[in-house]
Amino acid sequence: MKMYDLINKKKHGAAMTEEEIVYLVKGFTAGEIEDYQMAAFLMAVCFNGMNTEETIALTMAMAESGDILDLSAIPGKKADKHSTGGVGDKTSLILGPMVAAAGVPVAKMSGRGLGHTGGTIDKLESFPGFNVNLPEEQFIEQVTRCGLAITGQTANLAPADKKLYALRDVTATVDNMSLIASSIMSKKIAAGADVIVLDVKVGSGAFMQTIEDAKRLAELMVQIGEGVGRKTYAVLSDMNQPLGCAIGNSLEVIEAIDTLKGKGPEDLLEASLVLASYMLIGAGRAETEEQAREILLKTIEDGSALDKFAELVREQGGDDSYVYNTDKFAQAPLTEELIAWEDGYLGSIRADEIGMVSQMLGGGREKKTDSIDPRVGVKLFKKLGEPAAKGETVAVLYANDAGKLKAAKERLQNACTITKTRPDVPNHIYGVIGG
Ligand code: URA
Repeated sequence: MKMYDLINKKKHGAAMTEEEIVYLVKGFTAGEIEDYQMAAFLMAVCFNGMNTEETIALTMAMAESGDILDLSAIPGKKADKHSTGGVGDKTSLILGPMVAAAGVPVAKMSGRGLGHTGGTIDKLESFPGFNVNLPEEQFIEQVTRCGLAITGQTANLAPADKKLYALRDVTATVDNMSLIASSIMSKKIAAGADVIVLDVKVGSGAFMQTIEDAKRLAELMVQIGEGVGRKTYAVLSDMNQPLGCAIGNSLEVIEAIDTLKGKGPEDLLEASLVLASYMLIGAGRAETEEQAREILLKTIEDGSALDKFAELVREQGGDDSYVYNTDKFAQAPLTEELIAWEDGYLGSIRADEIGMVSQMLGGGREKKTDSIDPRVGVKLFKKLGEPAAKGETVAVLYANDAGKLKAAKERLQNACTITKTRPDVPNHIYGVIGG
């Protein structure tokens, strides 16, 4: 088999065989296929697509390019959740403790933020001492004992995806349905959970801009997951505005803690409850969404979810007193308000732009090697469709540098509009696929 022939085949729109896909993935992971050849192949995929069989073969070849975690030593059905990437999305920090407190083990491998999207691992590092690099045995042992562990992806989890994703990122080949589905599902399959709940974001801050595209991606991922025997659900959720009010690492952790205390923003609680419900349903802990919500809300009311979060922090070497006293988180030295410049309603607040504002302030990375400042970010005081009278606070920026703050404020203002009439406010949740 020759790489040249495979590129040529895809260039003419033909479907690859499973054998050809395995050859591609193995060769690329081993360094035998050059980046420039793989880049040409990926671009051909972007133009000509892959059918479902090719996508499944690509997913499995990537999953099998490294270790597939064996979680069978942990009793019961293990649940995991993955988001396609959002802004202000701290649901993992809320649903992990809720689901674990409800008795379903959560074995979660998470990523870091890149570009305008945040990452759970960066957020957890806001706790001094929090270890996000658990060795496999410790990860399994912690889930068995405390029902919850959140760690970074191990080096040998779907290494083909790591290499391919880095190449896609610099060759404008990220936004293809089959490449996104196989990238996400290869990691989820390799991470070993029995129940996979996918949060497929739709809107300005998401890869998928329309509900139709998000639905296609969701259906494809559910089909892949179910095809390899994992109970898989996909929740379609809105990302036209940031989720919740806090964007930036420690600001988001504080908002997640507030939500576990029953004082969080309504859209964030709702998204967390829906995702967590399907983790319980998939694991057989509840039969219906109503039943699951009742169980989950009880973990907030009785404080068991908050205690589970503190236990997670403690288990992974962090200072759990921060969970009970969020004033302990380090504060950014500079703050500035964005004030409503006229009377009206918050007409739009682009999620991707707000993510970039947080990144500019030092809360995210441009390159994988950039370091981040957990203190910086944005807090929204108005959400889409809310009345905004001239002079009222729309948002507050948290910064560590006056120059960055000035540029970020300008960008924040450009990301928002104030309209005379109330805009249509999209649903938080558009639907659920699977089950
Ligand atoms: N998240 C991933 O892990 N991979 C993609 O391709 C897109 C989003």
